[in-house]
Amino acid sequence: MNVLVTGGAGYIGSHTVRLLQSMGKNVVVYDNLSTGHRDAVKQGTFVKGDIFDSELLEDTIKRYSIDSVVHFAAFSLVGESMEKPEKYYKNNVMGTLNLLDVMIKNDVKKMVFSSTAAVYGEPERIPITEDISKNPTNIYGKTKLIMENAMEDYSKILGLKYIALRYFNACGADEGGDIGEDHNPESHLIPLVLKTCLGIRDSIKIFGEDYPTEDGTCVRDYIHVNDLAQAHYLALKALYEGKDSNVYNLGNGNGFSVKEIINSAEKVTGITIKKEVTGRRAGDPAVLIASSEKIAKELGWKPEYTNIEDIIATAWKWHKNHPEGYK
Ligand code: UFG
Repeated sequence: MNVLVTGGAGYIGSHTVRLLQSMGKNVVVYDNLSTGHRDAVKQGTFVKGDIFDSELLEDTIKRYSIDSVVHFAAFSLVGESMEKPEKYYKNNVMGTLNLLDVMIKNDVKKMVFSSTAAVYGEPERIPITEDISKNPTNIYGKTKLIMENAMEDYSKILGLKYIALRYFNACGADEGGDIGEDHNPESHLIPLVLKTCLGIRDSIKIFGEDYPTEDGTCVRDYIHVNDLAQAHYLALKALYEGKDSNVYNLGNGNGFSVKEIINSAEKVTGITIKKEVTGRRAGDPAVLIASSEKIAKELGWKPEYTNIEDIIATAWKWHKNHPEGYK
């Protein structure tokens, strides 16, 4: 396997690169470093490049005899996507279409694609199975759904084989403690909570406590980033074995409320966290919990991290040792 990992310098990308390399695959990371970090790439070959740069993409595919792509390179902030739709449609849709053009032109027809629970919007059923209706409530989710649909057509007509993985809430960090989550600006709950523990932030804002959930705060399905990485490996393996294109959810199947996450972080760190309840954040569904039965059954995926405190502990190790991220 000679795998091109676009966005391999990002959070989920860098963990996947480490895993693929440890499984003996040849990995070439392709990242423009607009949100990724060069220091997050500890393994593999690194090419600084943009998914719009067809020439460099083609050159990289040829030079390293690439035969599959894991495509992470995308913008992924829900809030920002509602303010700058053009940025999201351009990069996530046009950029991915460009990458697919170059792939197909060079006869690279295997792709593992980063998708998201945001494709479902407000789900009609919990736990969420892959077949329920997709009504994304934000532009980020829409761009990912557009690409899933395009790949379905490419698969039927152009012979592309793809597996789209719909992530729920990615979190945690590699046990090694040298790679982890570093977004700028940070908007995700667990890193913000841990930055509050470190005194980098004054308090954590709880976005609404009037949701129809047990404690009134939103419930999410938190999945460890290395369990996500494992799923990418299994998806690639399935494509090399000739399995058909497919779509899978990736979550733990357990829901935790915002308050439960904060309590767990207090337990893990031993630090009392200052909280502040504010209004709801636009576009937040009350409950998102995945059924990952399909990928468990079809690809044999099994999460290693099921305990939320263990997951938070891995993130805590990273944040404590890298309070300013990769800087
Ligand atoms: N939250 C707070 N305070 C904060 C930050 C978050 O209360 O300071 C709450 C949010 O309102 C939400 C929960 O914590 O209820 C989790 O929020 P995150 O921002 O960590 O994650 P999201 O659930 O919003 O986003 C995740 C992925 C997205 C994906 C989305 C699907 O990160 O890529 O799930 O809904 F699109």
